[in-house]
Amino acid sequence: MEFANFDVETFLRDYWQKKPQLIRNPWKSWRNPLAPDELAGLACEDEIESRLITQTRDNRKVEHGPLAASRFGKLGKKQWTLLVQAVDHHVPEVAALLEPFRFIPNWRIDDIMVSYAIDGGGVGPHFDQYDVFLIQGLGRRRWRVGGLCDAHTKLTPHDDVRLLAAFAPTDEWTLEEGDILYVPPRFAHDGIAVGDDCMTYSIGFRAPARSELIAHWCDHLLDDLSDDDRYTDPDLVTQANPGEISAQAIAQLHAMITEKMLDSDSFARWFGKHSSMLKNPDLDWAPETPVEAEHLRSKLIAGARLHRNPASRFSFIRQNPGVILLFVDGECFECVGETLALAESFGKQESIGIDAELTKSDEAIALITTLLNQGSLAFDPED
Ligand code: SIN
Ligand code: CO
Repeated sequence: MEFANFDVETFLRDYWQKKPQLIRNPWKSWRNPLAPDELAGLACEDEIESRLITQTRDNRKVEHGPLAASRFGKLGKKQWTLLVQAVDHHVPEVAALLEPFRFIPNWRIDDIMVSYAIDGGGVGPHFDQYDVFLIQGLGRRRWRVGGLCDAHTKLTPHDDVRLLAAFAPTDEWTLEEGDILYVPPRFAHDGIAVGDDCMTYSIGFRAPARSELIAHWCDHLLDDLSDDDRYTDPDLVTQANPGEISAQAIAQLHAMITEKMLDSDSFARWFGKHSSMLKNPDLDWAPETPVEAEHLRSKLIAGARLHRNPASRFSFIRQNPGVILLFVDGECFECVGETLALAESFGKQESIGIDAELTKSDEAIALITTLLNQGSLAFDPED
């Protein structure tokens, strides 16, 4: 999928993380990539996260998937909406929607949630902590957008959905197929289906909370710390008042912490691994029979292409000149020489062809073999 008219520079300068923007059908030619019954099918699968929200006049009930296929026939006249998480990880045609948004780094992308609603259905007025592009896939939806919310914003006392107690919209637009609404973090919004068969694709982003970063980074540090690593004071001198914790002791104690916290090389390596972890670590994407390096080499020589698993996360960090740390699904690979360009192409391309020269490199073949066998890469089906 491609955009025909969308100015990335203007968007980043004026809207990204600043204010909502309505983008009227920017696609070369919009085609809804998933049929409503296919979405319903995904909601019936065990390993896929889904929610069914049924509405009455003043209440919403949430059921978590997997749903029984027969559930959809029993909805009667109630308004309802179905939400399915990380559909891009399972449906390549939905993953293809991400292509024009690649101006945002891979590590910031979370997943694509897909919703289906009948006339009048919607999740209700709320705010999210993340940037989102809401693509109208099928049918129409009326979006209303309000101001910025925060941790003090009053919510309804409902258990399942975090809805705003008061919603004062400032803008209102009806989105048609192919239209996109960008909503920055914490802006109040509410989308209501206008007519049946309303499908919305939400491209969601991630932004780590400081609290979450500190907690996870500290957990990682703790793994490597020994109980023997302690405060010592072999040069202890007498002090006038034993009640005083001396400035020198405090400085030494504080340094025991900051030395570890300020190690930016280990932080970079840790963050690369941490942020590239699979969203659902229980899903095993590895092939049933592992590929052998020589078999792989001959397939590549014959022109076979590789593609990234849509559920996999690929990022890299430039270390010293000529060294790249490639992070794939929580693993770190140090890439130099021939594997360096390979790592860069994994970062930016969904579908990867390997040139003849590179098939001679044992390091490149070893890296690709590992990535295939951990399920992060796969051969194109026709190869
Ligand atoms: C929806 O697709 O119904 C809701 C998406 C959102 O508001 O984040
Ligand atoms: Co939302």
